[in-house]
Amino acid sequence: MELHIEGEVEFEVEEGVFYNPKMILNRDIGIQVLKALSISEYLDALSASGIRGLRAAKEARVDKVMLNDMSPAACDCIVRNADKNNLTNCDVYCCNANVLLHKRHFQAVDLDPFGSPSPFISAAARSAREFLFITATDTAPLCGAHFQSGVRKYMAVPIRTDYHHEMGARILLGLAARELARLDKGMETILTHATDHYVRTYLKVIKGADAANRTLEEMGYVESCQTCGGFWTRREPKPAGFCSACGSRTYMAGPLWLGRIQDKSLVGRIAPAMEERRARNLLEACASELELPMYYDYHRICDRLGLTPKKAQVLIERLRASGWKASRTHFSGVGIKTDAGIADMEKEMLAAK
Ligand SMILES: C[S@@+](CC[C@H](N)C(=O)[O-])C[C@H]1O[C@@H](n2cnc3c(N)ncnc32)[C@H](O)[C@@H]1O
Ligand SMILES: [Zn+2]
Repeated sequence: MELHIEGEVEFEVEEGVFYNPKMILNRDIGIQVLKALSISEYLDALSASGIRGLRAAKEARVDKVMLNDMSPAACDCIVRNADKNNLTNCDVYCCNANVLLHKRHFQAVDLDPFGSPSPFISAAARSAREFLFITATDTAPLCGAHFQSGVRKYMAVPIRTDYHHEMGARILLGLAARELARLDKGMETILTHATDHYVRTYLKVIKGADAANRTLEEMGYVESCQTCGGFWTRREPKPAGFCSACGSRTYMAGPLWLGRIQDKSLVGRIAPAMEERRARNLLEACASELELPMYYDYHRICDRLGLTPKKAQVLIERLRASGWKASRTHFSGVGIKTDAGIADMEKEMLAAK
């Protein structure tokens, strides 16, 4: 039995029950999102020690928190930890999460599984009335490193690109969008971040066939050149097949989400509430990145062009001075988002030499 303190919760974890302190940043952000959305009913569908749901009950003061895990040892642990923290607003379930999610609806559903959330997304999409929060730690399938597993889990083709972190996030969002749409529900993204080895997204669920149709309009594909780093978004699965900048063969990823991934004003409001500098910086980056799909890895472009990389900010200012939009991205320290195509990006980089 180990004793831990996280946020305002003091809790015990017995052997065999999962607790990962590396996910504290993920949970810290989750608490601030819950506070900002004023959620009254929240299901932590895969609770393990219960830390996520217990923090929701104590720190975000969610009226009713349901914590579920199919492991009896985990459930004992959650009950003890809820008592230890005098939390009377917590109900504990010891079910298969998919059964519970099919049995009833919850205002907000949180999926934080081992690896892929794919086996739970369909039931969670059905159950969630207003909010669906998802963590995926299977970044290799999502980002194209384990191609077949990515296709199986997400019903989408991932490819290994310079911007694979964002592609992975958008493939996850694409699956959520399609699962919701099947049920005549649409979605809006509140916050999406790829950090360490996971992707996390917070979605608002909107009921109705019109919302579902609007959501599906945000789906598409991205055609990518692995030689020069160029990419082009496509609404339909019709690739040009070759790179208009360097002539190489191109590859297409998708279907994936091409719509907005952040609610910038909400994320900007939450950022100052983060005590940890790393979380604050992350949210500030999410709030200030351009809402354009994908980014260039400017170090890789420098390598190809034989240039010494300058500071990202120098290049961003140069792009802006030439009339392009440009920003950094939280997805990568060497990523630049811009509406300039690869040929213009290279031109600006060569001119900045
Ligand atoms: C990664 S842990 C959850 C971590 C937790 N959310 C946190 O923030 O610390 C995944 C948990 O899901 C549970 N689990 C796995 N499959 C399940 C299922 N089908 N139904 C319910 N619980 C399940 C496991 O017992 C494990 O405790
Ligand atoms: Zn090319």
